[in-house]
Amino acid sequence: MLSAIGKQRTSKVLATAFLLAIALSLWLLYHPDLGSSTHILRPVHERPATIDTSDTASVTADIVHYFTSHPLGPPYKDVFGELGERCRILDDWIVLADTTNDASRRNMLSAAIEKTAAQHFPFLKNPGHLTSKAPLSELRRSFTPGSAGIVIPTSEGTLRFAAHLVVSLRSVLHSNLPIQITYASDNDLSAQSRSYLQSLVESGPPLEFLDITTVFDDASLDLQHGSWAIKPFAALASRFERVILLDADAVFLQPPEVLFEHGAFRAAGAGALLFHDRLLWQHAFAERHEWWRSQVRRPPSAALNRSRVWTEDYAEEGDSGAVVVDKSRADVLVGLLHVCWQNTRAVREEATYRMTYGDKESWWFGLELAGARYEFEEHYAAVVGWLEGEEVCSFVIAHVDEQDRLLWYNGSLLKNKGREEMKHEYEVPVYWMVDGEWRKGATKQDMSCMAKGEPRRLSGDERSILEAMIERARKIDQGLHLR
Ligand SMILES: *[C@@H]1O[C@H](CO)[C@@H](O)[C@H](O)[C@H]1NC(C)=O
Ligand SMILES: *[C@@H]1O[C@H](CO)[C@@H](O)[C@H](O)[C@H]1NC(C)=O
Repeated sequence: MLSAIGKQRTSKVLATAFLLAIALSLWLLYHPDLGSSTHILRPVHERPATIDTSDTASVTADIVHYFTSHPLGPPYKDVFGELGERCRILDDWIVLADTTNDASRRNMLSAAIEKTAAQHFPFLKNPGHLTSKAPLSELRRSFTPGSAGIVIPTSEGTLRFAAHLVVSLRSVLHSNLPIQITYASDNDLSAQSRSYLQSLVESGPPLEFLDITTVFDDASLDLQHGSWAIKPFAALASRFERVILLDADAVFLQPPEVLFEHGAFRAAGAGALLFHDRLLWQHAFAERHEWWRSQVRRPPSAALNRSRVWTEDYAEEGDSGAVVVDKSRADVLVGLLHVCWQNTRAVREEATYRMTYGDKESWWFGLELAGARYEFEEHYAAVVGWLEGEEVCSFVIAHVDEQDRLLWYNGSLLKNKGREEMKHEYEVPVYWMVDGEWRKGATKQDMSCMAKGEPRRLSGDERSILEAMIERARKIDQGLHLR
């Protein structure tokens, strides 16, 4: 007991000393009175408009030394916040390196960036360039400047839904965004399945395929057996700068292109857009909330302050079936690195997937802790389904756009994806509801309903879109059966 308290105290003292060191070094780095100064180009960060260009090499070296002498080991649960603080420094260094005109300063910063990135994110080591000293900048250089696209991770198990989604996007919604299908080695998605997916494309650019294990060192990841864990890595590895990451079972009612026009990216200056889960189980997960609070060591962001999970103790925050990230922004890039770290094997097994469900909460948590600007959709999850008395019921959760029009829902076009015996039952939903009260079904096989809101009918257009998607899906199912 005593030693536990002693340990706790030591780590508090260490943490305080560390924060002081960082505060001092940042003051030294940015203080306008020291040396000449140059302008920082990026407006989104609240930092002084000028930076110091005098010698900062020794401050930087001290911080790198501090990091290497204080590796972040288990219990990982306790170091989420600390890693977030380090990500913020990485962000600062990247912005400084990207904006300085002084080559020696840039080289010094780049060395610190790469050393820190390699220490905290060993998966960045590209299996094809094992001797590379700069895997993070190589990864950044692999992004196509100005590009945007959809990334869909899938394995054999979700091939059918990935096929439905690709055809829905291209042949029904007429989306022309490039689509990258990601997977973890040939065992995860065979060459035959990949060419099958390619054969479904009738318009727009051909599908692109990316085996994540050729981009990142899989030793600390085990993505083939990691289920959802592949998602942040797929977003990070993609050549697209702006990524719409989709679960294979997502159903869109509007072309995903509209996501890039979301106000979050304009007025709010965010670099990531996330969707909410259902408001459920208030005050039921005290341990989870205590943990989140213990790791968020700074005043919460505006996005978190608006969260009813954060402020009113509801249990579930994020639905990560769709996530939008802009990796051209250093804050979002380091935030994404944090999300990836949470989904590495050791961390997800010990903390992430125990404290919360799958990858879904790792997105806002990583972006928040790393100081990235992100936004959530305005509403908590809606429902799309069928009228039962005054309630709207189904197995899926839905999301609306800024004009409160249906945008997408999870759980595929099937009436009930969760039941094997219903795997060929499709049904177009008729009603939807937002901002009511959820009544959750007892098990995954039971419908959940929303009550106390206004049931709204899907428009004729929305129903025809879904009818067309279902017709295509049935054809795909027949084709897969014959294969
Ligand atoms: C969020 O709320 C906290 C506590 O009320 C406050 O200190 C912080 O400044 C707020 N954050 C923003 C970005 O407004
Ligand atoms: C839709 O998402 C919710 C919340 O994450 C989940 O509980 C539900 O099972 C999903 N529906 C389907 C059919 O997968």
